[in-house]
Amino acid sequence: MMITKKESAKYDSAVAETDPPDPLVTVFDYHERTKHHFHRFANALDALDWASQPCPFRCYQGAPEILLPLPGQDTTPNYEPFFAGQPAALQPLNRSTISAFFYYSLALSAWKSCFGNRWSLRVNPSSGNLHPTECYLIADTIPELSEQPGIYHYFPLRHQLECRASLEQSNWRAITSGLCYDGQLPKGSFLVALTSIHWRESWKYGERAFRYCQHDCGHALAAVRIAAGLMGWQLTLIEGISDSDLARLVGIDRNDDFPSRQEREAPDLLAVVTPGNSELRVRWAPNQIALSDVANGRWQGKANLLSKSHHSWPWIDKVALACYKPETIDLLEGCSQLSDLSYAKIPLEKSNPRVNINAGKIIRQRRSALDMDGETRISKATFYQILSRTLPEQNPRLFAATTWPACVHLGLFVHRVDGVSPGLYLLLRDLAKVEQLQSLMSMDFIWQKPLDCPENLPLYCLHSADTQEVAKILSCHQSIASGGVFSCAMLAEFEQPLRQLGPWCYRRLFWEAGMIGQMLYLEAEAKGIRATGIGCFFDDPVHQLFGLKDRTYQSLYHFTMGGPVEDMRLETLAAYSAAR
Ligand SMILES: Cc1cc2nc3c(=O)[nH]c(=O)nc-3n(C[C@H](O)[C@H](O)[C@H](O)COP(=O)(O)O)c2cc1C
Repeated sequence: MMITKKESAKYDSAVAETDPPDPLVTVFDYHERTKHHFHRFANALDALDWASQPCPFRCYQGAPEILLPLPGQDTTPNYEPFFAGQPAALQPLNRSTISAFFYYSLALSAWKSCFGNRWSLRVNPSSGNLHPTECYLIADTIPELSEQPGIYHYFPLRHQLECRASLEQSNWRAITSGLCYDGQLPKGSFLVALTSIHWRESWKYGERAFRYCQHDCGHALAAVRIAAGLMGWQLTLIEGISDSDLARLVGIDRNDDFPSRQEREAPDLLAVVTPGNSELRVRWAPNQIALSDVANGRWQGKANLLSKSHHSWPWIDKVALACYKPETIDLLEGCSQLSDLSYAKIPLEKSNPRVNINAGKIIRQRRSALDMDGETRISKATFYQILSRTLPEQNPRLFAATTWPACVHLGLFVHRVDGVSPGLYLLLRDLAKVEQLQSLMSMDFIWQKPLDCPENLPLYCLHSADTQEVAKILSCHQSIASGGVFSCAMLAEFEQPLRQLGPWCYRRLFWEAGMIGQMLYLEAEAKGIRATGIGCFFDDPVHQLFGLKDRTYQSLYHFTMGGPVEDMRLETLAAYSAAR
């Protein structure tokens, strides 16, 4: 059931009367307002307006195009050793490796067709397959690709770059000097930026869409981090940058280049990719003159129009503004993460037949399960290994991209794991939070580690029971949450980080959840099953189940994995034809 227009108007005028100037209050209000309740879904249109359906592909018409060659044979490292910490061979930066970087992160992965309809899928998932996330590359000269530094937009439909601006060498040097704590940025480094077109997602999901854009950004961040790792490169988030610097850097603040205000891109994040296996400590050291030079340089291309008409969602604009990130000083001093890198010690099952599969194959075969078979089971060794890959200290391959302490923990509904009794469990991604969570959660929980659970896996059984029905009901009655091997609610420490760091941190909590989701998608594929992200869930009933009474913790994302049921009516076609 959707909220009626009358109800919504009443709420809007009530909000308008007391319009809170404090961005933190706006974020809390937005979060509250976009919860799904048993009796009322978050505000969205009653029916989809197909006439205004946005085009899933942004391109810059008139910008010079650089076609990327499709990689031939898959030479990526094997998945399991790669995630067990085995260093990947260092690849040189050139047109082919830039192509591979995108091919294994944000490119198309297939086309699907059914009854005359055809739609594309991508390496990164997206709520409703709407793909609000756009990606930009900012790089020095790249052998076989460009003789000048430049700013490029990645266009996945054709697996090509569009050159938005060419830069002077001095611009590139000025922008990147000072990024590195420990000296110069190594040669062969480049920058990657992500942005979101909120309209793509709000077209379908209305006000809750801002949350989904942030999940998708987290998935994309994980995807680019992992793809960089395949090349023997490291991708590190530049956490200190302000949104306005980022918008200037990638030209999304150039009003005249965007035909519609509603289709403008919001800045999300900037990361630096460096060659070699050692993690770098980076910071944003903006050179405002260099940024102005870039902004005033010669930009090429105009963004395509995605929809003929638009529905406005003022609360999306409000929360986006409230979450705008200022420049921040990063808190790397005293951060132990970079010196403490260690990989999970959980042994692989010897019988695992997939140990020799290329990571690239797993990454490109990732799909969402449309339904779960309600039968497939996994062993406890597999279960524990999947969970260990979501822990920042045991999976630096992914999580060393960021330096913030883990805020998201997994509330698990275990359905079909041999040797682990069905029930409600908690995986703590930051052990320091155990006492706080014990005091906040239901007094009835037993907090027992399962027998044989590896010592370094902070997994606790809270309550033994068949949780299939409750998992399904809480995930908007979707049976994918009950028919798999397990599903989960990602419970994020919520109020304190927002109060301490600022409202912009709201976005980051969803990114963290999205990164975990991306890892779970890949783990499912690697273990021969399949996963699905679940953005639709009833927020407060989930909190009630765990005994969480206030907004200290909030559930931000659900996830499921299990034996998939294929829809045999769907035909699968290649992502790219040879004659692009
Ligand atoms: C943030 C997010 C939320 C999602 N929510 C749901 C959901 O509630 N139900 C569902 O069936 N699929 C959900 N999905 C799966 C998407 O529909 C799926 O990613 C999209 O259709 C693209 O298909 P692919 O994952 O196979 O590439 C979600 C995916 C993401 C990334």
